[in-house]
Amino acid sequence: MQQSENQPADIEIALWRYSENEGNWNRWMQSLSSHERDRAAAYRFERDRASFIAGRYLLRQLLSLQTGISPGKVPLSPDRHGKLRLESGDRLQFSLANTDGLVAVAVASGCDHVGIDCERADIEIEEAAVDSYCSAEERRWLMELPARERARTAIALWTLKESHLKALGVGLREDPRNIAFSWKDGIPVMVDGGDCDRRWHHRLVESGSQHVVALAACAQSGLPGISTNLFQNDSIPSE
Ligand SMILES: CC(C)(COP(=O)(O)OP(=O)(O)OC[C@H]1O[C@@H](n2cnc3c(N)ncnc32)[C@H](O)[C@@H]1OP(=O)(O)O)[C@@H](O)C(=O)NCCC(=O)NCCS
Repeated sequence: MQQSENQPADIEIALWRYSENEGNWNRWMQSLSSHERDRAAAYRFERDRASFIAGRYLLRQLLSLQTGISPGKVPLSPDRHGKLRLESGDRLQFSLANTDGLVAVAVASGCDHVGIDCERADIEIEEAAVDSYCSAEERRWLMELPARERARTAIALWTLKESHLKALGVGLREDPRNIAFSWKDGIPVMVDGGDCDRRWHHRLVESGSQHVVALAACAQSGLPGISTNLFQNDSIPSE
């Protein structure tokens, strides 16, 4: 749904470094829908189950705060590509990502699209994999970087591209090589045939941990206000 050009855009990001061993999983499960509880029960590996429960728990807590609907009743359903939507017709945009002990959720108002992705900063990406998601220009300047910086930039590029494709709702159905980035004054900028689309904003978010977190947002009203909170001790996030 298109937003008014005058409505200021605002994005709240919550990051939760949950502990798989100390989690209050049964209680968190109570905030999930029955369909989500069934899905959680079907995971074969504890780690995947924990990740799924943590993600949906945090998402529901944040959407509950925004909508006033109790967490378990927030009406979420995936569209045909898997992107979660609010059935209540609310104009909030949101996105969820999980990786190895971290959940990241972005909830936006006044934006047309929002996407978030997170990855561990120490994953190793083989060159062949880099070729499968980077444009020729990106590969050229990656090769010019010192090895350590190249590895970090390759992960940053991956998370930026995935956040953008999640914002669009297409995910990896779209070839990530078609979404190219460069950096301007330390800020990632999407490049499209040499021009930047001014409605899109991309950021690498400080995670306070060994994770790379990327945000993509499309807003007609300029750069959205972005706040990042750590969700701790199973509490509602606070700055
Ligand atoms: C979207 C996608 C990039 C997520 O990648 P991932 O690294 O596995 O997972 P992430 O941790 O980054 O994100 C997970 C969340 O993305 C969201 N998501 C799923 N599909 C999405 C889409 N098309 N657009 C935006 N978000 C999507 C879900 O909320 C999911 O959370 P959940 O596991 O609680 O349901 C990937 O699943 C994808 O490309 N999906 C579309 C193509 C596909 O194969 N779909 C098959 C199912 S319909």
